[in-house]
Amino acid sequence: KIVNVKGREVMDSRGNPTVEAEVTVKALGMPGEIYTGCAIVPSGASTGIFEAVELRDGEKRYGGKGVLKAVKNINEEIYPALEGENALNQNKIDHIIMNLDKSENKGELGANAILAVSMANAKACALALNIPEYKYVGGISAKTLPVPMMNILNGGAHASNNIDVQEFMILPVGADSFREGLRWCAEVYDSLKKILKSKGLSVAVGDEGGFAPDLSGEEEALDIIVKAIENAGYKANEDFKISLDVAASEWKTNQVGEYLMPKKNKQMNTDELIEMWEEISDKYPIFSIEDPLDEEDWKGWEKITEKLGDKIRLVGDDLFVTNVKRLKRGLKNKCANAILIKPNQIGTVTETLNAVKMAQNMGYIAIMSHRSGESEDTTIADLAVGLNTGYIKTGAPCRGERTAKYNRLLRIEEQMGI
Ligand code: PGA
Ligand code: ZN
Repeated sequence: KIVNVKGREVMDSRGNPTVEAEVTVKALGMPGEIYTGCAIVPSGASTGIFEAVELRDGEKRYGGKGVLKAVKNINEEIYPALEGENALNQNKIDHIIMNLDKSENKGELGANAILAVSMANAKACALALNIPEYKYVGGISAKTLPVPMMNILNGGAHASNNIDVQEFMILPVGADSFREGLRWCAEVYDSLKKILKSKGLSVAVGDEGGFAPDLSGEEEALDIIVKAIENAGYKANEDFKISLDVAASEWKTNQVGEYLMPKKNKQMNTDELIEMWEEISDKYPIFSIEDPLDEEDWKGWEKITEKLGDKIRLVGDDLFVTNVKRLKRGLKNKCANAILIKPNQIGTVTETLNAVKMAQNMGYIAIMSHRSGESEDTTIADLAVGLNTGYIKTGAPCRGERTAKYNRLLRIEEQMGI
């Protein structure tokens, strides 16, 4: 039984305020036993236009980014509606909160307020049942530790260098355990650092902990990453694959199908962009390209999926925004073959689970993901294992808010005795 729900304003990894919620439950039949689940929501920089809306105060404090209105909504709207409810019924809890918000995009209460409570509720249940959260979410079928899609080089909106692709990731596909894979990645990250230093390039990091050097372009970045893999003693392709997150919604112009790489100031249309991705995926050991086209270029997505869908994974992040309505449209029109899962794009644990299930049932892979603005909260690590997503995006082996997730996964792996 839920006995208390409380919100507070805390800080994210960019120094912006974000929402933390606590849900306190009283275990039935065990008088006096109370458990408090606590969760913090993340925040994006390259947010899709179809995402659920974060409520920000828009007043002077924190440059308008304060979340005291969202906190007030938790304390004054959500708490009274949930008091006395059975926390174990996550679906009902999430629907009660969703019904309180009459908007289409959770903009009244704020998706930040809603998700914080939704996640804290699941955590409180896991605590009350004395099981880890991944088990609470996935039951006995929770068994797969995800392959890290580790971001080691940042560009786009996540860094102030001259690279337009937002993320370059490495996947230790040849490793036979999570901890081995994590070690391999950290070794490549270190070898990349040495290469950059030897070239006199910056080893300052971007928002997700990847290096953010100035380079001549995407191909040079890929060449350096392949070199870093080899210098660390691994084989590109067999041991490591590479993934990109283009975040091409950041390259859109006011005309769908026309693009502008903002830093390079290079114009392209959909066909030219698809050609560029085809060349890159022929030349490098590419596993996936996320948001290679923008969130409204559905026709382009059909084309690229037909062209490259048999060779690589095309991941819809801003395209799908973890929303089953948009995913359905993608499935129907054969757009993409993978979905990025970010709980705060949709706003509740229940809706996140629904998106993962729909994708997995249809043969799309679901990739659990952090945001560029994060915290020490590790919910996504448990969700990745609980839902057997097989893949997780949670940044570089650098910056505490990123390593918190990796360290949680190491503990889960140990607990599972793998
Ligand atoms: P964001 O970036 O959190 O800034 O949206 C992450 C991503 O695009 O995958
Ligand atoms: Zn993305």
